[in-house]
Amino acid sequence: MSKSQILTHAKGQQVVLQLDKINKIFNEGTPLANHVLHDVSLQVSRGELVALVGTSGSGKSTLLNSMGLLDVYSSGELRIQGHLTQGMSEQQRTQLRSESIGFVFQFHHLISAFSAIDNVLMPLMLRFGKPNKEQTEYAKYLLNEVGLAEYADKPTNRLSGGQQQRVAIARALVTRPALVLADEPTGNLDTQTADEVFDLFERFNVEHKCAIVIVTHDPRLSARCPRTIRLTDGRIVYDGASADLPNEFTKTV
Ligand SMILES: Nc1ncnc2c1ncn2[C@@H]1O[C@H](COP(=O)(O)OP(=O)(O)O)[C@@H](O)[C@H]1O
Ligand SMILES: [Mg+2]
Repeated sequence: MSKSQILTHAKGQQVVLQLDKINKIFNEGTPLANHVLHDVSLQVSRGELVALVGTSGSGKSTLLNSMGLLDVYSSGELRIQGHLTQGMSEQQRTQLRSESIGFVFQFHHLISAFSAIDNVLMPLMLRFGKPNKEQTEYAKYLLNEVGLAEYADKPTNRLSGGQQQRVAIARALVTRPALVLADEPTGNLDTQTADEVFDLFERFNVEHKCAIVIVTHDPRLSARCPRTIRLTDGRIVYDGASADLPNEFTKTV
């Protein structure tokens, strides 16, 4: 990607993700049509840490999946690092996704019989084949960063839920993505483990300057993100400083 392709804010920050009037209609044109996202527009810049909140069914996962090119939106414009994603072939979408985006889900989707390090290396293996020394070293570094250096060779089904989620975070970061999308990554963890996993997101956000959008039901965790985007019925009803989120919007369940 050339430098000129990178969109910049007036402030000179790089825009990693830009959505203009994104709509998503499931089963479009059928009697089961369900219009879930309505004219969603937002920008996320390099190094931002953003909480995406809203009641269950408000469209958070649908939005995240559209942002991450895991699902196709119905209309609007979506740019990732300046690349307009409309009209891209599935192959181009896959390439952009694997180059630019790391995903963390509520359920970690690790391959349980594989070792922690092989799970971390998986996105690189899918892209480049057998990992080279530098890639393996970086995966080890990430496992060390998430506190699991000594578990590198253990199958992940031998790890606790919190440890597995840390492996999933290391896996999301192994491609050095500009954007990390996390859908309720602490949703099935106890409070202390959720705090520790969130610490990792914060640290990687600061140290690697990756932009992170994190869906969470936990107001304590969303308050730790400088910015909150709140969805109601598929519309953005708040986008601003988490500290200024109106009380009426603090309900997240
Ligand atoms: N594959 C699908 N087909 C039809 N409707 C869907 C599909 N996925 C999600 N929806 C609907 O979209 C709405 C938003 O869902 P979702 O994005 O999962 O919300 P959230 O993550 O905020 O709980 C819900 O009404 C849900 O039923
Ligand atoms: Mg969801």
